[in-house]
Amino acid sequence: PEKWFGVVSLFPDMFAPFTQQGVIGRAVKSGKLSVDTFNPRDFTHDRHRTVDDRPYGGGPGMLMMVKPLTDAIQAAKKVGGENSSVIYLSPQGKPLDQAGVQRLAGIDRTILICGRYEGIDERVIESHVDDEVSIGDYVLSGGELPAMVLMDAVARLVPGVLGHKASAVEDSFTDGLLDCPHYTRPEVLDGQSVPDVLLSGDHEKIRQWRLMQSLGRTLLRRPDLLNHLALTEEQQRLLEI
Ligand code: ADE
Repeated sequence: PEKWFGVVSLFPDMFAPFTQQGVIGRAVKSGKLSVDTFNPRDFTHDRHRTVDDRPYGGGPGMLMMVKPLTDAIQAAKKVGGENSSVIYLSPQGKPLDQAGVQRLAGIDRTILICGRYEGIDERVIESHVDDEVSIGDYVLSGGELPAMVLMDAVARLVPGVLGHKASAVEDSFTDGLLDCPHYTRPEVLDGQSVPDVLLSGDHEKIRQWRLMQSLGRTLLRRPDLLNHLALTEEQQRLLEI
């Protein structure tokens, strides 16, 4: 496949609907994307198949037990290769944005470690992890949903995964701006009309209107996005109006 993900998770069944449905389901079925799961529980040897362990220094909560975790990472590397890039999903990681997604899309084989409980031993991060990534400033009960968020965002950039070729490049955030509003039938919905320009057939006018909407929304809703942005001459001109 174009893109391989090895996912280390105590709950591999969570990934079944993700890999079977919709755009991602089609990408997997057509062989453009491949997702293999590696469960630390399969690398236990005691009768209770223990995967958690107590934190040094005490306190509430448990950590993932080191040996089943590192054995699962090793098993993933055997499939993806020793050069696979290893990412640990955690709220302490670098916040994921579309630029980060584009960088990850350039890597063929990526191993995602999904934490559970209070997380994993810091030394496993130091010795096994290349990048620690967060999907936002909130705490989830495990890294599985963040792993799916990352894979979904990356997979959409794999050539051929999105039906319409332009969809990935015309997306919100590809130019660093929020998306423009969209309209479909009927022309009048509960008294609300579709903007006239979209019915005009003037494609240059429509392009300018959409750009104006994107700039206006970004300015109103996410002015922070405009700070680090290199606006085109046209975008600057439209913003000054
Ligand atoms: N695990 C728990 N919360 C997370 C978050 N916000 N981002 C990435 N991994 C997480």
